[in-house]
Amino acid sequence: MNAHVKDPTLWTDVGAVTDIPLRGARRVPSPRGDVAVFRTGDGRIFALRDACPHKGGPLSQGIVHGHAVTCPLHAMAIDLASGEFLGADRGKGCAPTVPLRVEDGRILLGSV
Ligand code: FES
Repeated sequence: MNAHVKDPTLWTDVGAVTDIPLRGARRVPSPRGDVAVFRTGDGRIFALRDACPHKGGPLSQGIVHGHAVTCPLHAMAIDLASGEFLGADRGKGCAPTVPLRVEDGRILLGSV
């Protein structure tokens, strides 16, 4: 990457990591659609568009387990890092990931 090119990403502070319980999620409204921000049991943070690629279920209301979430509508499991379905449903769709950073305990979501 050219060091003289500025990062075009705008970063928005959407709250503290500790605002989200372990194995929990939070819905963050955005102009481009809701974002689901997840905190796993080991404290990692992930962000996906809050619409399941199957039929649009709200992933922020799913069950977080490991580094995955199970959609509340039809119980398909999605990898939080890639947004792709897991197991037998792999390859049937992908929830777009959302860029994020964690700085000083704050969650920053990116948009370009
Ligand atoms: S809408 Fe998510 S599994 Fe069907």
